Formats: sequence, C-alpha cells, structure tokens
Amino acid sequence: MNLDKVVCNCMNVTSGQIKEAVENGADTLEEVQQITGASTVCGACLGDVERLVNFFLAQRGKESQ
Ligand code: FES
Repeated sequence: MNLDKVVCNCMNVTSGQIKEAVENGADTLEEVQQITGASTVCGACLGDVERLVNFFLAQRGKESQ
C-alpha cells in the first residue's frame, strides 16, 4: 500500500495519516474523521476512508494478538 497516497483531496489526508490515527487509538470512522479531518468536507472520499479505517483496525488487531 502506498501510504503517501492522498485519499481525501479536500483535506489533503493520506493513507498514512489514517493509519497513524488508528494506531494512535482511533477506533471508529468518526474518530478518524475528527482527528484527520478526512471526509469532513465533500464526502466523496468517505467510502475509501471507511475501507482504510477498517483495514488498519484489522491490522492493529492482528498485531496486538
Ligand atoms: S475528498 Fe474527502 S471530503 Fe472531499
């Protein structure tokens, strides 16, 4: 995965920033939105942001096992 890829153009948020937010304790899409600002303007990226949050949450779960 390219962590430098911008997922939210409105707020200029990258995949890496989503990953960081989840690793720092964000447990939901809403929390990631609050922390990064991703998907809080036009909403076009919502599906992508949601997918990434779920992906990184799953990854975080595996690492802590
Ligand atoms: S592209 Fe993310 S809110 Fe517009």
